[in-house]
Amino acid sequence: MSDERLRVCIGGGGGFIGSHLARRLVEQGHWVRCVDWAENTYFATDEFFNEFVLGDLRDPDVCRRAVDGCDWVFNMAADMGGMVRVLACACGHSDARAGCARAGAQGFIMSNAATLMHNNALIDTQLIEAARQAGVKRYFYASSACVYPARMQESTQAISLCESYAGAGEPEDDYGFEKRWGERVALAYGKDFEGFEVRVGRFHNIYGPQGTWRGGREKVPAAFCRKALTSDETFEVWGDGEQTRSFCFVDDCVDGVLRLMRSDCSEPLNIGSDELVSMNDLARLAIELAGRTLELRHVKGPQGVRGRNSDNTLIRKRLDWAPSITLKDGLQRTMCWIDAQLQQERAAGVNVEAEYAKSRVVQMRTPEAGGGAQGVRE
Ligand SMILES: NC(=O)c1ccc[n+]([C@@H]2O[C@H](COP(=O)([O-])OP(=O)(O)OC[C@H]3O[C@@H](n4cnc5c(N)ncnc54)[C@H](O)[C@@H]3O)[C@@H](O)[C@H]2O)c1
Repeated sequence: MSDERLRVCIGGGGGFIGSHLARRLVEQGHWVRCVDWAENTYFATDEFFNEFVLGDLRDPDVCRRAVDGCDWVFNMAADMGGMVRVLACACGHSDARAGCARAGAQGFIMSNAATLMHNNALIDTQLIEAARQAGVKRYFYASSACVYPARMQESTQAISLCESYAGAGEPEDDYGFEKRWGERVALAYGKDFEGFEVRVGRFHNIYGPQGTWRGGREKVPAAFCRKALTSDETFEVWGDGEQTRSFCFVDDCVDGVLRLMRSDCSEPLNIGSDELVSMNDLARLAIELAGRTLELRHVKGPQGVRGRNSDNTLIRKRLDWAPSITLKDGLQRTMCWIDAQLQQERAAGVNVEAEYAKSRVVQMRTPEAGGGAQGVRE
């Protein structure tokens, strides 16, 4: 595909990955419309879009408005549950949507599974149908490592999850089930409708600056950076800290998404790092980068699956590329950004040590609860 100036729609373009992707596309000279039911609070508005539509992508009219006149559409929108969880669960998503369900946050995912599946299933069907009707040429679906079977993630010596394992057992929770279903919907559209190219990326724990870093929905790298900077003497790790994960820096994720989008690869690909790390080692790295001396303190809490890693054999083969930013480098960049956020908070009179070394619980939602007003900004 040539690199003419494209008109691009990013569903969920106010979110973490969506806004980084939008900024990259704007930098490359493309015209970008971000659509989200919430605004992004970390980027300057003129930094990452040409037009911002504030609207609910469960609504087919909003989806039609979103994709109108676009060549490419990225579906980066998902309701992650929008609730519970506390700081540093060691599962890779401190919002408890993933593994936390298995180890202490059972009530959370159980009581919000219906909302999450309802909302995401609507987004995943309405946006793609609107894109097809509008004659969009390429469509990207953001899937997740959560589609892989729970039974393959029971050891800290994580099995590298290669793409073909996805059908070999049940995902660990309803979020993963819905993502698997969303993939199937997207792939069916790609198969059935000529000229409508579909690409699917399975993200593995994406992190970096301009991501949520407080409030309960932040992921482990951000939570650990914040805790390393604000904890006093001890640093809490949930569980025994031997759980393992890999974390992919957001710039690598955006590279992977765009390479996949431009490729002729119509099968789902992992977009994740294969640098495996235990939560204890991640905590030690964060403490070292923060220049602190803190002792790890293991406390009861959600731990998620025991081990999860990305297998990058297929992406190397198909795209001749794989994520390469090291965890140390990515965490350092994330730490710098979170440090700047903390400094702003301090300057505003917040006692960041008291505020951010502690856990926080966010409430549950029902499907009819929306995320924002409707409108357009240019
Ligand atoms: N970040 C990760 O580690 C990770 C891992 C696996 C998969 N994913 C997937 O990647 C995509 C992007 O993730 P992210 O980390 O940027 O999450 P995010 O929560 O920052 O972004 C998702 C965006 O979707 C928006 N949204 C949700 N429901 C909406 C609706 N009904 N109408 C309009 N907007 C709506 C949210 O407001 C949010 O801005 C999601 O599909 C997510 O499931 C992310």
